[in-house]
Amino acid sequence: MSKNILVTGCSRGVGLEICRVLLREGYNVYGIARSYTDEFKVLEQEYIGHLFFKSIDLADSGGVRKSVFKEFVTNDILLDGYVNNAAVAYDDIVTNLNIDRLKAMYEVNVFTPMVITKYAIRNMLLHKTRGSIVHISSISVHTGYKGLAMYASSKGAIEAFSKDTAREWGQLGIRSNVVVPGFMATAMSASLTEEQRAKIYARTSLKAATNVGSVAETVAFLLSDKACSITGQNVYVDNGTI
Ligand SMILES: NC(=O)c1ccc[n+]([C@@H]2O[C@H](COP(=O)([O-])OP(=O)(O)OC[C@H]3O[C@@H](n4cnc5c(N)ncnc54)[C@H](OP(=O)(O)O)[C@@H]3O)[C@@H](O)[C@H]2O)c1
Repeated sequence: MSKNILVTGCSRGVGLEICRVLLREGYNVYGIARSYTDEFKVLEQEYIGHLFFKSIDLADSGGVRKSVFKEFVTNDILLDGYVNNAAVAYDDIVTNLNIDRLKAMYEVNVFTPMVITKYAIRNMLLHKTRGSIVHISSISVHTGYKGLAMYASSKGAIEAFSKDTAREWGQLGIRSNVVVPGFMATAMSASLTEEQRAKIYARTSLKAATNVGSVAETVAFLLSDKACSITGQNVYVDNGTI
């Protein structure tokens, strides 16, 4: 029987690529984003009966129990994995910090993923599943970039949450890990100028943007039984950023 994985931020970029890799490997994928994109629909046509979509705004942490777990991934579905990929980047220098924008980012990047983790683990406990949770962080947590302090802080919170979730639930076989990507050429980084990109890539060993496919394959590995002894870890997929 195919394993079921919940992936947030499936409409484009890394999330869409994660869906593609998981479907190729025979998983059923439950995807969430706000927009139902043409690229997602193409994948859906290719994997009829294995890829499912619900449009949900993850900026409402108070509503996700109902929208995700009562109306989409219900308790009838045995959940094997959760990929916390959806995120927004509020970038600005610290002296411009706007508290409303900061809170809005924390809803999507921190509070909602924590609530989804809560109910994903409850589903795993109900079905006695040795599930796997994978969060997507960012190399900005570890290297520091001007203008990314607020965004990096939200990812740092998720890294800490993952480490302690791993400790809390490991005895029941539930694993939690983080993939830490370097800069990738997606919509999220589209506003960077050529000069900014050149500077970022100069800080990597491979002198290039991180490959989205490599990030997605690493997520798939961490979800799989091949990674059964890996938990509480950060796995860097960042072209060797310094
Ligand atoms: N791009 C980079 O350079 C980079 C580097 C390091 C880490 N990351 C991380 O990698 C992950 C994927 O980023 P990406 O580059 O693929 O970004 P992206 O192209 O902007 O995609 C973000 C995804 O999140 C979804 N999303 C955003 N806000 C949402 C909301 N309120 N409700 C539901 N879905 C929402 C978007 O879907 P809708 O807009 O359709 O809702 C989209 O599917 C993120 O966690 C990001 O922080 C990115």
